[in-house]
Amino acid sequence: MADLATPFAVRTAATLRVPDVVKDGPLPLAEIAHRCRAVADPLGRVLRFLVHRGMFTEPEPDVFGPNDASNALRSDLVDGPCAWLDLDGAVGRADLAFVELVEQVRGHHPAYPAAFGRSFWEDLAHNPQLSDSFDTLMETKTQGIAPLVASAHDWSRYARIADVGGGKGVLIAEILRQHPQPRGVLVDLVGPARNATAYLQEQGVLERAEVVAASFFEPLPVRADAVVICDVLGDWDDEDAAQILRHCGQALEPDGRVLIVELLPDSDRMATFTEMDLRMMVYVGGRMRDLDRTQQVAAAGGLSVEDFTPLDNGYAIIECRCER
Ligand SMILES: C[S@@+](CC[C@H](N)C(=O)[O-])C[C@H]1O[C@@H](n2cnc3c(N)ncnc32)[C@H](O)[C@@H]1O
Repeated sequence: MADLATPFAVRTAATLRVPDVVKDGPLPLAEIAHRCRAVADPLGRVLRFLVHRGMFTEPEPDVFGPNDASNALRSDLVDGPCAWLDLDGAVGRADLAFVELVEQVRGHHPAYPAAFGRSFWEDLAHNPQLSDSFDTLMETKTQGIAPLVASAHDWSRYARIADVGGGKGVLIAEILRQHPQPRGVLVDLVGPARNATAYLQEQGVLERAEVVAASFFEPLPVRADAVVICDVLGDWDDEDAAQILRHCGQALEPDGRVLIVELLPDSDRMATFTEMDLRMMVYVGGRMRDLDRTQQVAAAGGLSVEDFTPLDNGYAIIECRCER
């Protein structure tokens, strides 16, 4: 449980795309190193270490080949783990901030800024490649939940739906696809907003959608009958989350609703939930919340929870009305 060599060796192989390079069969180490733009001697030592832990084969000295474990790390697998482990990608890099966990727990400093000199969001804003990699990871993640969210609520009752912190637009695109009447507006920071326009066009819903680049820490420059906010509140502490919700509530037309979509704790998924909670703490100083705590944050943001729809995947849609 406490070994660090194995996860770092696996992540190094994934980052260098060794599983892709050897997918068709064994290759000499020098050739693998050349194709991976790596140095043969240290790469060979990493691969040999992994062979003895069940990943890759070494059919003859200094020749390495694939096996099931290495194939599971190929970058062309839809929904595979490679992009999440890539040390050059937003989440693989953020995992490196765990070296500062003990100092965060001692109350000395938040982990990510201590590891990288600025916050996670500032890092993305300064590095388009990192920002794009994060949007792509969120795209994959949200593709898994969007169809459920889009079908579990009657979105057709709203004329205009804003997806705040909507990333690339996977959720709003799915809602618009399943419900032909409403129009959509996606609000996010400049980088994701740029990617969202292209994504919504690809999905064939851009004629019913617009994209607005804005921060949810300012009053939102949009009005809507429903504001959906999915997997965003966990990125923030209670005070920030309440401020975001206040701005969502203020953007509502009369009798509008804020729909919070979040993973909630349940007895079958506590390993995932607590892992997410730790990641949120380390990456962004956020936290995962149960329904009671979400309700308290909503109240602090001027919203009252009036309905709650649990989904099969552990997420829930928490429907709130604005207390004006
Ligand atoms: C965890 S992602 C969730 C994205 C999307 N809702 C989804 O479920 O795929 C959090 C989103 O919040 C956005 N975000 C972070 N800070 C923001 C801010 N100050 N204003 C608007 N959006 C912000 C990020 O760019 C990112 O798209």
